[in-house]
Amino acid sequence: MSNLLEVRGVNFAYPSLKVLTDINLTIKEGESHVIIGPNGAGKTTLFKVLSGEMFAKGGQVFYEGQDVSALDAWQRVHRGIGRTFQMARLFVEQTVLDNVIMALESRERIKKTAHGCWWRLSPAKEIVEEAHVRLAEYGLLKRVDDLAANLSHGDKKRLELLLTLALRPKLIMLDKPTAGMAPEDRRAAIETINRLRQSEGLTLLLTEHDMEVVFGLATRLTVLNHGEIIASGDPEEVRRDPTVRRIYFGKVAAYA
Ligand SMILES: Nc1ncnc2c1ncn2[C@@H]1O[C@H](COP(=O)(O)OP(=O)(O)OP(=O)(O)O)[C@@H](O)[C@H]1O
Ligand SMILES: [Mg+2]
Repeated sequence: MSNLLEVRGVNFAYPSLKVLTDINLTIKEGESHVIIGPNGAGKTTLFKVLSGEMFAKGGQVFYEGQDVSALDAWQRVHRGIGRTFQMARLFVEQTVLDNVIMALESRERIKKTAHGCWWRLSPAKEIVEEAHVRLAEYGLLKRVDDLAANLSHGDKKRLELLLTLALRPKLIMLDKPTAGMAPEDRRAAIETINRLRQSEGLTLLLTEHDMEVVFGLATRLTVLNHGEIIASGDPEEVRRDPTVRRIYFGKVAAYA
């Protein structure tokens, strides 16, 4: 498996707080890499630095062998890096269907096809049809005309995943994709994510607190503690690591 993303010596600090210290991490194509760590460990901050929402204060980020450290978030999206958020980000005043249409049109703009032209007054028939197919795949067809604001938490997360994947990323970063979901929704979400990884050839980087989700999805596991990586590797080996057990697994119930 070749390296899709390489993080070399990344540091990050907010004005009064050092958050990431010398982060070195490799994400290989096709893997499902889960990052765990206590609240405030720096997981979301790392995602922001990798997606270009914030810039590292030192070190470099390579994607497909190229240094993307200085690229803005939208430029990284164009390269194939997608990301969802701990709190779903949707156009809440728009309908579910319009959210999907806008995402599909953005993809067409990235591909520079006529379906994505800014001057279109109404979406192309093919785009509307594809939106319906995708909504059916995600079990959201019943919600097409609802405002995104009125969806349940689980449906909002599902819609956000659909929108992110509509841009056809190669690497997708999911920040706590099952947070706040009921157990049955959580299981369904794991299945969807696993299925997508296989059917769409996706590489996953995700953060998660729920251990059922972690061990249901992870092919690699990294533990972040106070902004430092304290273990990274095979999930079962990391689970047995004495330092990880002491710092994290012993307390995991308290963080969930
Ligand atoms: N915008 C900000 N300004 C200043 N400090 C921040 C900011 N955002 C986060 N922090 C701090 O940086 C540290 C890391 O936060 P981060 O959100 O990356 O942690 P996390 O691992 O994602 O936590 P959680 O598991 O709760 O989501 C925390 O101490 C947090 O309070
Ligand atoms: Mg977070």
